[in-house]
This record gives sequence, structure tokens and C-alpha cells, in this order.
Amino acid sequence: MIACTGLTKVYRTRDGGEAGIRDVSMEARGGEWVLVRGPSGCGKSTLLLALGGMLRPDGGEVRLGGLDVYGMGPAERARLRAGSVGFVFQLFHLVPYLTVRENVMCGALDGGVAARGRAEALIEELGLGGRREALPGTLSAGEKQRTALARALVGGPMVLLADEPTGNLDPGHSRVVYERMARFRKDGGAVVMVTHGADANGFATRIVEARGTGAPFGFGVAANGTRHGGGL
Ligand SMILES: Nc1ncnc2c1ncn2[C@@H]1O[C@H](COP(=O)(O)OP(=O)(O)OP(=O)(O)O)[C@@H](O)[C@H]1O
Ligand SMILES: [Mg+2]
Repeated sequence: MIACTGLTKVYRTRDGGEAGIRDVSMEARGGEWVLVRGPSGCGKSTLLLALGGMLRPDGGEVRLGGLDVYGMGPAERARLRAGSVGFVFQLFHLVPYLTVRENVMCGALDGGVAARGRAEALIEELGLGGRREALPGTLSAGEKQRTALARALVGGPMVLLADEPTGNLDPGHSRVVYERMARFRKDGGAVVMVTHGADANGFATRIVEARGTGAPFGFGVAANGTRHGGGL
């Protein structure tokens, strides 16, 4: 459902070094939850943004539902992303002047009755019922994270890309988030989640260990856990 081959994105650092990812190939099919684990700075967010059509790689290819994400024009890519990808950002990126309900609705393709119903259902399922009219500035970190997950799911995506979705949650609330993500997967969606922790291990169908930020940089690990390609 979503796959990348030879994905490379290099940042030049001030000291003349390099950071980013090199030659990463992986795939997540419908019904799969692929967990990419690796230390801070190894390129997890970079990988996820590139998979989600938000960061053009220097090399390699991303395919979403068979379509070449970076081979199409920006408008087409934006449409594909809006219709097919739900993204939970590491730092939430909620709109500060919109309520929880309005932030969730930002992930819907339209403001119709069906979308509003899905938003309400997600708000309840994720334990945000009492906070639906609250502004992000008044939310706890966990509430922000759950609002971000509801926004990612409300449009009915095929693929959910989640960047440390429970980094700020206590174990009880992490479980609420993971169980909702597991339901998405069991309903046929594909999940790619990146993390440096181990608390989602039991929910993943496959775990990819990224190597650290050793020389030269980044990680190159195939989805089945075997080392893959360049940069090594
Ligand atoms: N726009 C950028 N310009 C320069 N360097 C960058 C840029 N974005 C990321 N980097 C560097 O690339 C490396 C990978 O960053 P990335 O955010 O993908 O790591 P990460 O694995 O998500 O880390 P964390 O677990 O801390 O979130 C880091 O060394 C980071 O400093
Ligand atoms: Mg990150």
C-alpha cells in the first residue's frame, strides 16, 4: 500500500558532515503495522515526512497505492495525500485558534454530515468528549496527541503515518491511542510508526530496527530487518 525504495535525503551539517537517511527501502501493506525503531537523530521523522509526500527525497521513490508520489505534480500530490494519508506529527501541529473539534475536522475532506459524525465518534473513542470545545493551548500533551490522531483518521485514510504518537502519554492513554491505531490496521489500513521506545512493540506486526547515527549517517535497513544497501 505504501512503499519506498532507495529513499535518500541528505542534510549537510555545519561542520561539513551529513545527516539524514540513505537508501532506505521498506513497505507497509494493508493490515500491517510497521514499527521503525531507532535512536534520536537517525532519520525517523525524515523518513516519515518523505513517505507522506511532504519532503522530496534526493533519491529513491515513494509509491502510495501504486502511484509515484514524487513523480506527479504538487496539486495531484496534495490531493493524494489529503485523500489517502493520515499523519500524526511528532509536535502535534494543531491549529492554536481552533477548538479540538475544529482541529479534528481539519483532517476531513469536507464538512459534511458524515465527516462530522466520524469526528464526533473519534473524539468520544479517544476520551476527548469533555474537551471538544477546548483550544489546544489549554490541553494536556496527551490530549493534544489524541486530537492529532483523531485529525489523522477522520478523513478515512488508507495509510496512517505516526511520528512518536504517544511520546507524551502515560501508559493508560498510550494504550487508548495504540488500540485505536490497531483497529485502523485491522480494518485494512497500513500503519507506519516511528519511535525510539519499545512500548508499541506488542501492537506492531513487523519491527524495523534502524541503526544509529554512526558514520557516515542515517540508517539503511530493509523492512524485514536485514541491512540494506548504501550508507553502510
Ligand atoms: N532541515 C534540516 N536541515 C538540516 N539537518 C536536518 C534537518 N532536518 C533534520 N536534520 C538532521 O537530520 C538528522 C535526522 O533528523 P530526524 O528529525 O529525521 O531524526 P529523528 O530520528 O526523527 O530524531 P528524533 O527521534 O529526535 O525525533 C538529525 O541529525 C537532524 O539534526
Ligand atoms: Mg523525529
